[in-house]
Amino acid sequence: MGPVRSELMWQAVVDAVEIAGAGRLLDVLDLGGGTGGDAVHLAQLGHRVTVVDPSPDALASLHRRGIEAGLPEPVRGVQGDSGDLLDHVEPAAFDLVVCHGVLEHVDDPAQALDTVATALRPGGHASVMVAGRNAAIAARALAGDFVTAQTLLGRTAGTWDLRSMGPRRFAPAELEELLSTQGFVTVRTNGVRVFADLVPSAIVDIEPGARDALYALERELRSSSEFSALSAGLQSIARLDLPSAATPDPGGRSAAL
Ligand SMILES: C[S@@+](CC[C@H](N)C(=O)[O-])C[C@H]1O[C@@H](n2cnc3c(N)ncnc32)[C@H](O)[C@@H]1O
Repeated sequence: MGPVRSELMWQAVVDAVEIAGAGRLLDVLDLGGGTGGDAVHLAQLGHRVTVVDPSPDALASLHRRGIEAGLPEPVRGVQGDSGDLLDHVEPAAFDLVVCHGVLEHVDDPAQALDTVATALRPGGHASVMVAGRNAAIAARALAGDFVTAQTLLGRTAGTWDLRSMGPRRFAPAELEELLSTQGFVTVRTNGVRVFADLVPSAIVDIEPGARDALYALERELRSSSEFSALSAGLQSIARLDLPSAATPDPGGRSAAL
């Protein structure tokens, strides 16, 4: 087993695949999939994966990872972003869209989720991971930066200024609200890394059994709303509402909203 942090992040993807697929092999879009750590793992499990990312360097690493992993076919990697996604993929083509660590950076998270919804088949699922705002406030306060902590306290994802404040942070209710306004029903919101980023690595790496015990604690705490509100990462797994029978619209999703 690798570092707890990496293992927890990968298990969050596994959770989403289980909810979206119930054992089926899936068409997965990893939007902002970066260097493809998750994508290559998913392809090794037999899922059909497409990565869309604006970074050519990340896509080159994805290609290399696929070769090193001995995949029979490379993971499809496409240079693009949440703004031009539909120039690169068909609408309603995916069972699961993984969008981890991306909404913190985009100008308009609602627009990005709207695009995610368009890429999904009706009834498909999105796994959206974002950085938690409360954890960021706690980190600033514990570092003695009380002014920034107070500034973050007064901000919401909607009033966040990326240029002056850096990557956007979210409260759990904001993430769920954002998903809901784009036609999603949240299946669950988990905390990912409640304590893992706070515990000194000397404890985790040296104390016998500490790594596995921390992992088990994190996995148990992830579904507690009290603790997920403090977590460094928030993951919502959400289902795109099926279009109503009265307004069939197989290609588009406007009827579902
Ligand atoms: C923090 S990394 C996350 C990588 C990966 N999803 C993960 O969880 O490890 C953020 C990624 O989002 C990509 N990105 C930035 N803006 C984006 C956008 N508008 N649409 C899609 N991806 C974007 C970056 O190139 C980068 O690879």
